[in-house]
Amino acid sequence: MTSPLFSPFTTGTLKLNNRIVMAPMTRSFSPGGVPGPDVAAYYQRRAENAVGLIITEGTVVAHPAAANDPNVPNFHGEKALAGWAAVVKAVHAAGGKIAPQLWHTGLMRRVGSEPNPDVLPIAPSGLAKPGKKVVEPMTEREIADVIAAFARGAADAQQLGFDAIEIHGAHGYLIDQFFWDATNIRNDRYGGDALQRTAFAAELVKACRRAVGPQFPIILRYSQWKQQDYAARLATTPDTLQAWLTPLVDAGVDIFHASTRRFWQPEFDGSAMNLAGWTKKLTGKPVITVGSVGLEQDFIETFRGPGTDQSGQHLGRLIKMVENEEVDLVAVGRALISDPAWAVKLRDGQTAHFVPYVSESLKTLV
Ligand code: FNR
Repeated sequence: MTSPLFSPFTTGTLKLNNRIVMAPMTRSFSPGGVPGPDVAAYYQRRAENAVGLIITEGTVVAHPAAANDPNVPNFHGEKALAGWAAVVKAVHAAGGKIAPQLWHTGLMRRVGSEPNPDVLPIAPSGLAKPGKKVVEPMTEREIADVIAAFARGAADAQQLGFDAIEIHGAHGYLIDQFFWDATNIRNDRYGGDALQRTAFAAELVKACRRAVGPQFPIILRYSQWKQQDYAARLATTPDTLQAWLTPLVDAGVDIFHASTRRFWQPEFDGSAMNLAGWTKKLTGKPVITVGSVGLEQDFIETFRGPGTDQSGQHLGRLIKMVENEEVDLVAVGRALISDPAWAVKLRDGQTAHFVPYVSESLKTLV
């Protein structure tokens, strides 16, 4: 019954054994920004257990204001890159595929944050949230530096043998701060209407594309919701969504990762499709859906034996979305933190053996 989730998937040079993607999740277990053998083992455990594609925790590009925590891994510097090379090797040895999530926190970083407390945070208009100005708006020079840092990260990822990159354009971090009119009130070419607020991300994607050539897969993660405001919406109609995404397709995005908090929620009135479904329909590009997969009780209890609902409402919906080609890939976050063997148990109909719960504190995190 779950076989559609475990059918292979190919797009361009990316060939995956199945549709299950590990969602990027910050761990803060890389002291001094260097991912060690434990990080490699952590991802290897998921690759060994039927996760088709791993997207790493956010890993920061080479810009002094990118990180907001000294234990978040860097994606620059000899030691950190050597650590990542070992991660790639471990995942590939287990038959998995892996993409680093390239990240800049922007103004989700507080003034004085380690690892570079003397460096001020950066943001398109210096706003942490509507009306809250913390620093001066980014200069064109700073914009160019950040774009160059992402492009360098992309080139390094390719060189290290990663299978793709994911650019973190979601959840209210730097790239999303450009998308959002509450934090981007610039009146140069990086600000204005929804289309103009896409300019920074589009330039950044183009720079990454130039750095890796035409074949290397680029995934862009984006979201309507922000950590600063779960109810925020950048596109309230399919037309505005299309206006937002088209320049990103033209810039070279291969796969969109449409981040939602609950995958079954419709995005616009009049259709059951979620944000990922709409993104695929409007761009023609493959998409990853995400959001509370495996966290609902009916999903956990699927297959639990006679007398229970064998189809499981949420699992059934998810399988249909893949079967109908509404979405291509399914990212799983918290369930895969709790249980590294989550995917293999789902594949083999052993959901009764899922780690029985995702802790309440993890449940309230997103
Ligand atoms: C996250 N999430 C996240 N997203 C992202 O794009 N980059 C990141 O580094 C993180 N970090 C992170 C840490 C932790 C502990 C959690 C729980 C979540 C969001 C994550 O990728 C995913 O979108 C959500 O967790 C929703 O998926 P699940 O958990 O409902 O399957």
